Amino acid sequence: MTDYILLCEQIKSLAEISADETAVLANASALLYDALPDLNWAGFYLVREVPDGPPALILGPFQGKVACVRIERGRGVCGTAWEAGETQLVPDVHAFPGHIACDSASNSEIVVPLRRRAGGIAGVLDLDSPLFSRFTEADRVGLESFARTLEDILSR
Ligand code: SME
Repeated sequence: MTDYILLCEQIKSLAEISADETAVLANASALLYDALPDLNWAGFYLVREVPDGPPALILGPFQGKVACVRIERGRGVCGTAWEAGETQLVPDVHAFPGHIACDSASNSEIVVPLRRRAGGIAGVLDLDSPLFSRFTEADRVGLESFARTLEDILSR
């Protein structure tokens, strides 16, 4: 069972020297990828202005294979988490309408929105697994608390 309290403490101490967004999210993706068994991808997509349309999710720091660089609001699991403002826990990605298959090895996924203190969504934390039903309600609770910790760090 993953010790999410420890992971929150670890990312807080890693952010003590610098709370730079790229540094914090890069270490957060490395921490999660290392600590959670049976992942094939762990990382962030961040809400960014784009020159040719409304804001989109753009690939941020991650661990794993190369991934799609831009996801529109409402598209795939990540775009749905952004639009709904709620965690998406997907036991079988192949049954999720519009799932974006970056790595054909992925079979289950969890996506947790990161909120801005001022309101709105700053981005999403995305974890993928080659196992079906890899993520449990305990993972959802733990990862939401990890996301809240990241929001506190990044709003400093
Ligand atoms: N599976 C995601 C796309 C991102 S990759 O998994 C890294 C989705 O459908 O939103």
